[in-house]
Amino acid sequence: MHKNTKIMKSVIQNIKEAECEGILLVVSNPVDILTYVALKESGFPQNRVIGSGTVLDTARLKYLLGQHLKVDSRSVHAFIIGEHGDSELAVWSSANVSGIDLEHFEEIRGMKEEERPWSDIYREVRDSAYEIIERKGATYYGIGIAVARIAECIVRDSRAVLPVSVLLSGEYGLYDLCLSIPAVLGQNGAEQVLEIELDDSEKMQLEESAKEINKVLAEIMGQLIPGTL
Ligand SMILES: NC(=O)c1ccc[n+]([C@@H]2O[C@H](COP(=O)([O-])OP(=O)(O)OC[C@H]3O[C@@H](n4cnc5c(N)ncnc54)[C@H](O)[C@@H]3O)[C@@H](O)[C@H]2O)c1
Repeated sequence: MHKNTKIMKSVIQNIKEAECEGILLVVSNPVDILTYVALKESGFPQNRVIGSGTVLDTARLKYLLGQHLKVDSRSVHAFIIGEHGDSELAVWSSANVSGIDLEHFEEIRGMKEEERPWSDIYREVRDSAYEIIERKGATYYGIGIAVARIAECIVRDSRAVLPVSVLLSGEYGLYDLCLSIPAVLGQNGAEQVLEIELDDSEKMQLEESAKEINKVLAEIMGQLIPGTL
């Protein structure tokens, strides 16, 4: 964290000197912290600084749900939000397959309640990076595709909704930190941040996730340029 914060600061300094008018897409970890650092250091408007956030985690969730439900993952609508890390959460309350909620879809597909592996799926999504790193040292293909997808939305101004890491300004009662919630992505970056509906337990989990991020932010705040916070 400290090492990458330092690197991020020097990279942002160079970008500022080049008078860049582009959009900053942060991928390095811890991505929510470094997105915040990039935002504060660059002074760019918040729509122009985004982190890859939970786009990859969300793709993994859709893939695993698709496998379980025996349906194309592109027909699965579900999000992982919060920190890109251990405190992230799956928004089960609004997850659906083409408008049909998951439980109903499982019934339609002839699956029994006891066969519902949602918590296993969540754990597999949350921990998959650890497993990949253990087996081959680093993760690169999945994140490569996620970054290409985000860049495509910006370059083509396609306005897809993806869960990128953005500055929160009151969404879910949270302020002044970056974490992932769905946002409309186009040529202006995160055009609009969407406060999707969460049930009470999901709201609590998101607050816990924000607390984890805030703990780390408090630790690195001393490293940022004074007066920028
Ligand atoms: N957000 C995600 O989902 C996700 C997924 C995979 C990797 N990552 C993160 O991406 C980062 C890079 O991972 P990697 O596997 O590509 O690592 P890597 O070691 O292969 O690449 C890091 C690159 O950064 C360059 N570099 C180092 N210091 C620099 C500096 N001061 N200025 C400019 N460039 C500098 C190095 O030369 C190297 O090319 C890590 O922080 C990793 O955790 C994030």
